[in-house]
Amino acid sequence: MTDTTDIKKGLAGVVADVTAISKVNPETNSLLYRGYPVQELAATQPFEAVAHLLWTGELPDAVALADLRATEREHRALADEVRAVIDLVPLDAHPMDEVRTAVSLLGAQDLAGSGSVLAASGSAEDNLRRSIRLFAALPAIVAYGQRRRRGQEMVAPRDDLDYAANFLWMTFGEEADDLVVDAFNRSMILYAEHSFNASTFTARVIASTLSDLYSAVVGAVGALKGPLHGGANEAVLHVFDEIGEAANVSPWLDDALENKRKIMGFGHRVYKRGDSRVPTMKAALDTLIEHYERPDVAELYDALESEFVARKGIYPNLDYPSGPAYALMGFDTLTFTPLFVAARVTGWTAHVMEQFGANALIRPLSEYVGPAERHVEGYVPDA
Ligand code: ACO
Repeated sequence: MTDTTDIKKGLAGVVADVTAISKVNPETNSLLYRGYPVQELAATQPFEAVAHLLWTGELPDAVALADLRATEREHRALADEVRAVIDLVPLDAHPMDEVRTAVSLLGAQDLAGSGSVLAASGSAEDNLRRSIRLFAALPAIVAYGQRRRRGQEMVAPRDDLDYAANFLWMTFGEEADDLVVDAFNRSMILYAEHSFNASTFTARVIASTLSDLYSAVVGAVGALKGPLHGGANEAVLHVFDEIGEAANVSPWLDDALENKRKIMGFGHRVYKRGDSRVPTMKAALDTLIEHYERPDVAELYDALESEFVARKGIYPNLDYPSGPAYALMGFDTLTFTPLFVAARVTGWTAHVMEQFGANALIRPLSEYVGPAERHVEGYVPDA
C-alpha cells in the first residue's frame, strides 16, 4: 500500500513533463512565453504574433505575420453548418456548451474522410493548419453566441481589421476605439498560455492517447468551463453584482467567509504571492475605467482586493481584473469564459503539438480505498 503522504492530491507539486512553451516562476512572479516576458509581449505585439510565437517558438517577421494574418482572415467567417449547430444549442444553455459543440463540429468536418483512428493525430503540418483554423474560427463562434442571446443578427467579419479589432467588430457591429482594441488584445495575450494548468493538461492527456487536436481542444473547453479555472472570470462579475458598491464590501466579506465561500478571482495553485499577469491587466482595466468614466468600478475593485488580501493574504489572479474589463468593453458576463477559450486555444494547440512531438501516454496510478475483495452471491466459477 502507498504511503498516503506520497499521494499528490490534485497533482499539486508534481512535475509531469518538460515544456518549452512557457515558464511560470512564482518566486520572481514572472511568466515567460518561449522566453519572452508576457508583459513585454502584451505591450508590443498583436495577438496573432503571440500565437505564432507559441506555435513555432519565434515571433514572426513581417512576411510570416502577413501570411498568418491572411490565413486567419480566410477562416474567420462562421460556416453555415456551424451556425446551424450553434442555433440548436438552447439559448439558456451556457455559451461554453455552444463553443464546445461548435469546436466538435469543426473537427468532424475537417477530419471527415481522414481514415482510421491510427491517423488521428496527424502530421506537424496538419496540426499547425488545424490550430490556425481553430484560432481563426473561434471569434465568430463567440461573437455570434453573444449576439444571438441578445436577439441580434450575426455580423460578418471585416478583412480590413486585424484579429482583435475584428473580434470586437463581429461582437458589437461597430468599430471599437483603439484604446479598447488595445486592452482587448492585451487580455488575449495574457490569457493565451500558462503551462500545465487544468485545461492544458486535459488537452495533453487527450493528445497523449494519439487522438486528434480537435478532440483535445473539446476536452480542454470542458475543463476551462469550471469556476475553479476559466469560469472564474464570469464568477468575478457575479461577485461584483452581489456586492453592488464599495461600501458593502466589509459586511459582504464577513458573510462570505463565515459561509466558507471561495472568493472568485483570488488565489492560484502556483502563484502564492500574486499572479504575474495581474499588473498588466489591471493597467488595461484602469485605462478602460477612465475611458468609460466608471470610478465606481475602481472603488469596488480596490475595496474588495484590499480587504480580502488584508484578511486572508490571498491575492487576485488574472480573472479579477479581466472580468470587469470585459464588462466595461460591453461583453455579457456569460461571454467571458468563451473569450478565455479564444485566447487559450493558442496555448492548448501549442501543447498538443508539443505532446505529439515527444509523446508518452499520460496514465497515473491511484491508491484503491474501496471495499476489500468480495463476491457476487450465487456466482459459481466455471469448472
Ligand atoms: N477564496 C477563499 N479562500 C481561498 C481562496 C479564495 N479564492 N483561494 C484559496 N483559498 C483558501 C482555501 O479555502 C484554503 O484554505 P484552508 O487551507 O483553510 O482550507 C487555502 O486557501 C488553500 O486553497 P486551495 O483551494 O486548497 O488551493 P488550490 O491551490 O487548490 O486552489 C484555486 C487554487 C482553485 C485557484 C483557489 O485559489 C480558488 O478556488 N480560487 C477561486 C477561483 C478562481 O479564481 N480561479 C481562477 C484561477 S486562475 C485562472 O484560471 C486564470
